[in-house]
Amino acid sequence: MMDVTTAVFRRKSVRAFLPTPVPDADIAELLRKAARAPSGGNVQPWKVYVLNGGTMDRFRTFLADRKPGEAAYPVYPESLKEPYRTARFQLGEAMYATIGIPRDDKPARLRQMAKNYDFFGAPAAIFCYVDRQMGAAQWSDLGMFLQTFMLLATEAGLDTCPQEAWARYETAVTEFVGAPGELQLFCGVALGHVDADHPINRLESDRFPVEEFTIWV
Ligand SMILES: Cc1cc2nc3c(=O)[nH]c(=O)nc-3n(C[C@H](O)[C@H](O)[C@H](O)COP(=O)(O)O)c2cc1C
Repeated sequence: MMDVTTAVFRRKSVRAFLPTPVPDADIAELLRKAARAPSGGNVQPWKVYVLNGGTMDRFRTFLADRKPGEAAYPVYPESLKEPYRTARFQLGEAMYATIGIPRDDKPARLRQMAKNYDFFGAPAAIFCYVDRQMGAAQWSDLGMFLQTFMLLATEAGLDTCPQEAWARYETAVTEFVGAPGELQLFCGVALGHVDADHPINRLESDRFPVEEFTIWV
């Protein structure tokens, strides 16, 4: 069985998937295990909607007629401070460089961005919702659940991409999955098998050195 360190280093955001199907039973197993993620007060505030197989096909058809709107929540602060702003900028530049899109080719960047709304070709996905009553602490619990889910997917030989981009399609997604109004969409997670030959998957994201985010007191 894969050890945690290997899973942590192997997991990365995949932005081009093969059409290879993922059995429902495998997704169910990932969710069963991911539910062991911790949460403050054990409130377990995550609500998950799964798209797979025929449902995913129907979702793609459904979405074709829909337009993105305002993001359902502020995905980033209005003027992101340093060093976060540069980290975000560099990630974008590195990503577009893998597929040869220059900085000034806005239409090509937008076309790449739009692939979020095809789950980058993934055959399966989850949408993660949270009750509107919940605050920052419970949203952080969602993060624990999602990372646990993604590491378990890595262990199972699957690949993922967490996607806040879906915040711009909350109305359409909610209508399709039938989520009640009390729930708010946080993100989608594309799930499937990496297209290892696609250049975008050669992207290796940087990290701040430990000294930059840690102070030993
Ligand atoms: C909550 C969350 C939402 C994200 N949303 C998107 C997204 O909408 N589109 C995308 O291409 N990547 C998205 N990412 C992926 C990040 O860009 C990625 O995690 C980061 O650059 C680090 O790279 P890595 O995941 O390959 O290690 C998201 C990541 C997280 C954790």
